[in-house]
Amino acid sequence: MAGAPESTQTASGTPWRNPLRDGRDKRIPRIAGPCSMVIFGVTGDLSRRKLMPAIYDLANRGLLPPGFALVGFARREMSDQDFGEIVHEAVREHARTPFRQEVWDHLAEGFRFVQGTFEDGDAFGRLAETLSRLDDERGTGGNHAFYLSIPPNAFPVVLDQLHRHQLTSSAAALGRAPWRRVVIEKPFGHDLDSARELNALVNRVFPEETVFRIDHYLGKETVQNILALRFANQLFDPIWNANYVDHVQITMAEDIGLGGRAGYYDGIGAARDVIQNHLLQLLALTAMEEPISFEPRQLQNEKIKVLSATKLVEPLDETTARGQYAAGWQGGQEVVGLLDEEGFDPQSRTETYAALTLEVDTRRWAGVPFYLRTGKRLGRRVTEIAVVFKRAPHLPFDQTMTADLGENALVIRVQPDEGITMRFGSKVPGSSMEVRDVNMDFSYGEAFTESSPEAYERLILDVLLGEPSLFPVNAEVELSWRILDPVLAHWAADGKPEQYEAGTWGPDSADAMLARTGREWRRP
Ligand code: BG6
Repeated sequence: MAGAPESTQTASGTPWRNPLRDGRDKRIPRIAGPCSMVIFGVTGDLSRRKLMPAIYDLANRGLLPPGFALVGFARREMSDQDFGEIVHEAVREHARTPFRQEVWDHLAEGFRFVQGTFEDGDAFGRLAETLSRLDDERGTGGNHAFYLSIPPNAFPVVLDQLHRHQLTSSAAALGRAPWRRVVIEKPFGHDLDSARELNALVNRVFPEETVFRIDHYLGKETVQNILALRFANQLFDPIWNANYVDHVQITMAEDIGLGGRAGYYDGIGAARDVIQNHLLQLLALTAMEEPISFEPRQLQNEKIKVLSATKLVEPLDETTARGQYAAGWQGGQEVVGLLDEEGFDPQSRTETYAALTLEVDTRRWAGVPFYLRTGKRLGRRVTEIAVVFKRAPHLPFDQTMTADLGENALVIRVQPDEGITMRFGSKVPGSSMEVRDVNMDFSYGEAFTESSPEAYERLILDVLLGEPSLFPVNAEVELSWRILDPVLAHWAADGKPEQYEAGTWGPDSADAMLARTGREWRRP
C-alpha cells in the first residue's frame, strides 16, 4: 500500500485513519509463537482426518513457529519414525494444501511419540521429560497445548495425570512466561448436570481462560461471515427483527449414515451430537445483538445473552420431532437402516434426526420461531440458515398473478455451496404483471480467489495464538444443555423415534411440526 495516506477526512468530517499505518496489518495472519501440541488419541479418526492434516496445512502456510513440535500420545507401541509414518499417511490423504517435501521434512523434525495408557503414571513422566527436552532442543519455551481427542470418560484420568506431573501449570521457574492450554472436543457432557461436572473437573486443573472447547462450526468461514453480514453492513440490520422476520430455519442435513460410528453415536443421538453445539451456536450468531467490540469477551457475552433468552416452545410432542433412518436409496445405492448398521443395538432408540422449535425472548425476536433440524441420511448434505420474511402487507396485483410468489428469504449457505442467496419476487417478462420468486446469489467460489481454510486449521492456530473468540465458554455450553435437557427428558419418557426412509427429508412429524402454524420446511 505504498502511497496510501496515513489519515484523511471522511465525508461526514470525522477523521479516517488508515489501518495499514496503525501498526500491524491485520490482514496478514499471525504466526504462532514457540510451542508444541500434544495430541491424546492421536491414532483416532479425528486426529487422522482433521488434526494432523490441519497441522501440516498450517506449516505449509508458514503459520507455525520454526521449532514447532507435535507430540503423539497413544497406547500403541511405536517409534518416533513410525509415528511420522502415521502423520504422513494422514497428511497425504486429507491435507487441503499440496504436499511439499521441504515443509514436511522440517515439520517432521519436531515429531515425538510417547507410548502409554492413560492410567500409566510413568508414561506421563516420560511425556513431561519429552516436553522439557523439546524446550531445550527446539525452543518450545515451555508453551504446550494438550489436545484431548479422546472419549469423555477418559478426561478425568488424563486431566489428573497432567496435573500430577505438573504439566498443567506453567514452569515459572524457567523465568519466562510459558503457557499451558487444554483443547477439548465435544460432547461436553450429555446433559446439564454432567456438563457442570465436566466443567468443574476441567477448571480444577486448567483455569477457564486456558480451556479451548472446539465447536468446529465456529471455525468455518461461512459461520464467521454471519457476523460480517450482520455487523459490517447497513442493509440487513433494520429488517433483522420480529417486525419483518416471520421465522428462521436452521438446517444441518447430512447424507452419510452411521456405519462405523456406533461406539460414539448409539445413545447420544442427533440432538446431543449437533443441536446442543453447532446449531445453537448458529442460532446465537444469527440472533445476537451487535457486540460493542470484537474483543472475545464481548462476543461471548452477546452469545450468552441470546442463549439465556432462548426458550423451547411447548407442547413438546408437537413442537419437536425425532426420527431414525430406515433402509432406502441414497446416491443410487441401497443403504441399510440404523438398526442394521454394524454395532448398533437392534432395539436402539437413538435418534438420527432431531428438530426443535425455539423462541428468543427479547424485544428483537419476540414471537419469531427459530426452527432447528438436523439429520443423517437425508436428501443431501447441506447446512444453511434461512431467515424467512413476512409477506408484504398488501399486494396491488391480481391474486392470480402472484400465485407463485413465496416469502422473501435471506439464506446463508454454510456448506457445501458456500454463499448467500436472497429470494424475492420479480416480474415475469411478458405483457401481464405476473410476479414470481427469483434468487440472487453471492458465491464464495466466484467472489474470492482464496480458498477457505479448513475449520480445524483456523481453530488450532487460534489455540496456539491464545485467541479465544471462536471457542464457546462453559456458560454457553451449560446454557445450551439447559435448553435441550427438557426435550431429551421428554423423548426418553415417550416411545421411540419415528422411522424415515434413507434419502428423504426426515420423519412426517417434522413436517407436522411446522404445519401446525401453517409453515413449511424449505427444500434446500
Ligand atoms: C460433528 C458430528 O460434530 O459434525 C458429526 O459429531 C457430523 O456427526 C459432523 O457428521 C459434521 O461436520 P461437517 O463439518 O461435515 O458439517
